[in-house]
Amino acid sequence: MTEAGMEVFMRGIPKAELHLHIEGTLEPEMVFALARKHGVKLKFPSVEALRAAYDFHNLQSFLDIYYEGANVLRDEDDFHAMTAAYIARVHDQGVVHVEIFFDPQTHTERGIAFETALNGIRRGLDEARAKLGMTSRLIMCFLRHMSAESAMQTLQQALPHKDAIHAVGLDSSEMGHPPSKFSAVFRRAREEGFLTVAHAGEEGPPEYIYEALDDLAVSRIDHGVRSEEDAVLCKRLAHENMPLTVCPLSNVKLAVFKRMEDHNLKRLLDMGLCVTVNSDDPAYFGGYLLENFIAVQRALKLTRSDIRKLASNSIEASFMPPEKKQYWLKQIDGFAVAV
Ligand code: ADE
Ligand code: ZN
Repeated sequence: MTEAGMEVFMRGIPKAELHLHIEGTLEPEMVFALARKHGVKLKFPSVEALRAAYDFHNLQSFLDIYYEGANVLRDEDDFHAMTAAYIARVHDQGVVHVEIFFDPQTHTERGIAFETALNGIRRGLDEARAKLGMTSRLIMCFLRHMSAESAMQTLQQALPHKDAIHAVGLDSSEMGHPPSKFSAVFRRAREEGFLTVAHAGEEGPPEYIYEALDDLAVSRIDHGVRSEEDAVLCKRLAHENMPLTVCPLSNVKLAVFKRMEDHNLKRLLDMGLCVTVNSDDPAYFGGYLLENFIAVQRALKLTRSDIRKLASNSIEASFMPPEKKQYWLKQIDGFAVAV
């Protein structure tokens, strides 16, 4: 298959995005527009200067800029505009379903109401369903660098919004903040009927992945690429069909792997793990879902059958209802025969 043919195949095949921080879709142009709107002074003189600062050497160097960017989000329309811009970007990339993280504490810490963020994002997702037929789930993440008490307060704020929030997750600075720090919060979240996911094994060791599985009872591991260091863990992940939401461009930008050619996605896939491809924070890492597929396919020489597996894994690992999964898996089969 030619490179162009492969790109058509990757664009057209129906797929779900399962690891996307909505605050990570804020493009520099929108950061500046919202800063102007609200009279916020930025540390950078121009869009170009801000973009030039996206030269990260690890997770923390990214998070420092990412939280600074999120500071321009002030009212419900801002959250709506950010969500609508993301949906518009991925609509022609064959993305049929999105599961979106949001970080309420990033906003409530600055005095922005929980509902301001939630309602703006929700409105964007409702419109995506009504106008484009794109379905979604919302996942509320706790910031792991903050206390378990703060996470518990955030969970309390989510309780009146169970109709909108499907699952809880765990993100931000991984090292030194193991999943077990949040065992009680996640137990309470499960008792309240939320599904759970957690970032683990992005920078942190395999032990953090065990903790996410055993202490937080997660349905998916976000990233999880360091599972490769532990053969017993890999066997377990394969046996339990535990999905990993892998983010190739993010991993290279944050120096988890030096070059895309070094990425272990293909090896994890060949070990029988339920690997999916995702974009994490596309405005900061140089590409949305399709660009992640293209980058990793070229570097690792993935085949059509690998791409098909990654797409069907994304549907199977999603939180859509079983009949929707069956529908999209059939569409993938039909697409793979036709193209
Ligand atoms: N918040 C946004 N992106 C993140 C990532 N890749 N890891 C941890 N926290 C994040
Ligand atoms: Zn992430």
